[in-house]
Amino acid sequence: MDELYYTPKHIRAIYDVKHDNKTIAYHESNKHIPPSAKQSVGALKNVSCWTAQQLPDIGRFYGKLKRQLKQTIIVVYMGKGGVLKTTLSYNIARTLALNGIDVLIIGLDTQVSMTTLALKPEQYFDLKNFKECEGLDDFVRKGASLEKIIKPTDLPTLDILPETSNLNTLETTLKLQSPRETFFINKLITHDCLKKYNVILFDCAPGFDVLTENALFASEHLIVPMSTEIGTAQASVQNIKKIQEFQARMNKKFQSISIVPTLVTNTKLSRQLFSMYESKFGNLVTSNSIRRAITAQESLIKKKSSIEYDQLCDLSQDFKKVIEELWNERIAAKVVQ
Ligand SMILES: Nc1ncnc2c1ncn2[C@@H]1O[C@H](COP(=O)(O)OP(=O)(O)OP(=O)(O)O)[C@@H](O)[C@H]1O
Ligand SMILES: [Mg+2]
Repeated sequence: MDELYYTPKHIRAIYDVKHDNKTIAYHESNKHIPPSAKQSVGALKNVSCWTAQQLPDIGRFYGKLKRQLKQTIIVVYMGKGGVLKTTLSYNIARTLALNGIDVLIIGLDTQVSMTTLALKPEQYFDLKNFKECEGLDDFVRKGASLEKIIKPTDLPTLDILPETSNLNTLETTLKLQSPRETFFINKLITHDCLKKYNVILFDCAPGFDVLTENALFASEHLIVPMSTEIGTAQASVQNIKKIQEFQARMNKKFQSISIVPTLVTNTKLSRQLFSMYESKFGNLVTSNSIRRAITAQESLIKKKSSIEYDQLCDLSQDFKKVIEELWNERIAAKVVQ
């Protein structure tokens, strides 16, 4: 795939557009989608090409994921590590952004995995002064400006509040407050800078710390990636119980809880664990799942979602189906306008 430009073929694949080139050109001339530049692509001359920055405007017209009037807050959490929390969060965030929905990702992991994925190195680390960018801790403890902390990505509809390694210090600070779980909902989500986002999405660290408690309390929709692996299956019941206890303790009810089976393989064990999740957790489990595939890492290296990187591969189709199910059937369907 051409990295810098998207041709009508890519547009058709990303947005499942059934129209032919002539109709896409008609939509362009009628300004339903932004103007393309004409480029040579391989042996073909004068091919209509759009940049990544133009995709959200194209997605507003062709996309299947519709923007909601009310702001929606989503948290991606699972106590077990390596189950695709960050990968799924990033793919959801970029797919929504590609559909013209304004998204803010808030990373909560001291491994800074989301930040390194979403931003260019110079945006989060100043090599000359050997200094990290500012993050949540600087906002809470030092009163730094959120407007300056939030960074743009390569998509105009996607910003990130970056993670920093001093999130640990923030955790210690919040732990001492009473109540300790309400800081995000009272001081962060309500901040003027966050009003413009249609979706705010938290990517949690594994474990169950105060930052996770704050993200859970502030969110309306919970997404739990659950890999079809023995260790995750072992942790799963305890994990869901912990979430239920948290809801009871905080007198909070999520509008939706979705368990997404991940790292699914064509093996007996994977199939067994998948059906065990379905029988234990019923309709919390999504009908679609994410397979284990090496292309996942290829797209992440390019800082793209799977669908932007290789529209036709099986993994992209998995993400497309999971995200459409989550958004159209579980999240947007519940938003009260
Ligand atoms: N579909 C896939 N198949 C195989 N590997 C994948 C797939 N998607 C992502 N990966 C890789 O799996 C690893 C774990 O993914 P990820 O970082 O999203 O998990 P996580 O739950 O966020 O982990 P952590 O608990 O450390 O935050 C990463 O190296 C990622 O590149
Ligand atoms: Mg992660």
